[in-house]
Amino acid sequence: MGRLAGKVALITGAAMGQGEAEARLFANEGAKVVLTDVQEELVQKVADSIIDSGGQALALKHDVSSEQDWQHVIEKTIERFGTLNVLVNNAGIATTSMMENHSIEEWNKVMSINATGVFLGMKYAIPEMRKAGGGSIINISSIAGILGMGTNAYSASKGAVRVLTKAAAMDYAKDNIRVNSVHPGIIVTPMTKDLLEHEETRKGFEAGTPLPRLGKPEDVAYGVLYLASDESSFVTGIELVIDGGYIAR
Ligand SMILES: NC(=O)c1ccc[n+]([C@@H]2O[C@H](COP(=O)([O-])OP(=O)(O)OC[C@H]3O[C@@H](n4cnc5c(N)ncnc54)[C@H](O)[C@@H]3O)[C@@H](O)[C@H]2O)c1
Repeated sequence: MGRLAGKVALITGAAMGQGEAEARLFANEGAKVVLTDVQEELVQKVADSIIDSGGQALALKHDVSSEQDWQHVIEKTIERFGTLNVLVNNAGIATTSMMENHSIEEWNKVMSINATGVFLGMKYAIPEMRKAGGGSIINISSIAGILGMGTNAYSASKGAVRVLTKAAAMDYAKDNIRVNSVHPGIIVTPMTKDLLEHEETRKGFEAGTPLPRLGKPEDVAYGVLYLASDESSFVTGIELVIDGGYIAR
């Protein structure tokens, strides 16, 4: 039996990168998966390929910064699969702007997707999880939410995710709803493609990583799988760092 057999899991930003890897792994482990993304065609293709491999999947267009979209996505999840057991707040965007050249528009956009999106996801998932007798929420932060890495909205948004996770973990433990954050290091995905094309930057990250390689989406997905499954039923409020040892130096 799969590690997520019988569970319904919603994963945001599932059209590519880590969200796609998590959706595929979760489906392989027996979960019914709801894949959401702003990239409607791409997320539908991922869902179709999961269905072709014998899994159960539903793809939905979703902007995580929109409260209306969240209401729609939760409604469709319940309509299709009857319950919600796991939420992975994975969708996110990056910025390389630094403090002095950071526009207020860019700041607000990053915060609305990376931080407000996580708040809205929890707000609408928690009532359904309570009805189900509990659940697991996994919020994807970053090592940038722990360390000083870039004085910009990305770090601020990921720091917000880290503490909001702990606060929610305290508030909802009584409902058997576990809330944990995951902090990836440098992972090779479409998000980091441009950054890692720069030879010196790539070598710098590799050299700074005690396990001398960059991360793969699957490295993160296996950590998220653990937190989603009942294997972690005594785990809440933690920050799981998956970075090859980068921040332990
Ligand atoms: N790649 C890394 O090195 C790294 C490191 C630390 C943390 N993270 C975090 O991990 C998560 C996944 O990152 P990734 O590397 O897979 O990124 P990615 O860019 O490869 O994929 C992100 C997905 O989110 C979707 N998305 C963007 N805005 C959205 C919105 N408003 N609503 C819904 N979906 C939206 C995109 O369409 C895309 O499919 C993000 O939260 C990111 O900040 C990534």
